[in-house]
Amino acid sequence: MKKIGIFYGSTTGTTKSVAEQIAAELGVEQKDIHDVAESAPSEVADYDVLLLGASTWGAGDLQEDMATFIDGLQMVDLSDKMVAIFGCGDDQMADTFCNSVGEIYHALHDTHAQFFAPFNNDGYTYRHSDSDVKGMIVGLCIDNTNHPDDTAMRVKLWCADIKAELEGEE
Ligand SMILES: Cc1cc2nc3c(=O)[nH]c(=O)nc-3n(C[C@H](O)[C@H](O)[C@H](O)COP(=O)(O)O)c2cc1C
Repeated sequence: MKKIGIFYGSTTGTTKSVAEQIAAELGVEQKDIHDVAESAPSEVADYDVLLLGASTWGAGDLQEDMATFIDGLQMVDLSDKMVAIFGCGDDQMADTFCNSVGEIYHALHDTHAQFFAPFNNDGYTYRHSDSDVKGMIVGLCIDNTNHPDDTAMRVKLWCADIKAELEGEE
């Protein structure tokens, strides 16, 4: 069975909460949920599947702890890892909504990671998001500010996709 590690960067706790909801849904133990502010990129070696999550700050910037973590992760060969991305944002920031998801995706492109679990941004109102890569939303985007009632269902559906994908890999 593939071992899942969750690595998140969160400034005010929203992405941390989403990481915990994802863990509960997938049966990931507490010890396998990592705040990247306190983790080294080398810790990903323990896992087959990485779920990487961060919020968007500034004007569409990746959350600062995750930005530092990703800088280190770019030096790691991830060719044997499956990677899925999640992020938190605010769709009122209509030109940079949930950019974090796209920033992680682009930053890790050259590591040869196998990306999986794209999702959709249905129900959100925005003009531009870096999570949208040529028409594919490359991860789970959560807006817990304007759409809090959708969070649980979006997490559940995304995790169902992950379970299905991993079962297919067994
Ligand atoms: C100063 C500031 C800038 C932000 N910039 C963006 C942004 O560019 N795009 C976006 O989608 N959300 C943006 N957000 C919203 C945060 O990403 C959102 O509140 C998120 O849930 C925070 O998650 P965290 O607590 O895990 O860090 C911004 C929030 C603040 C306060």
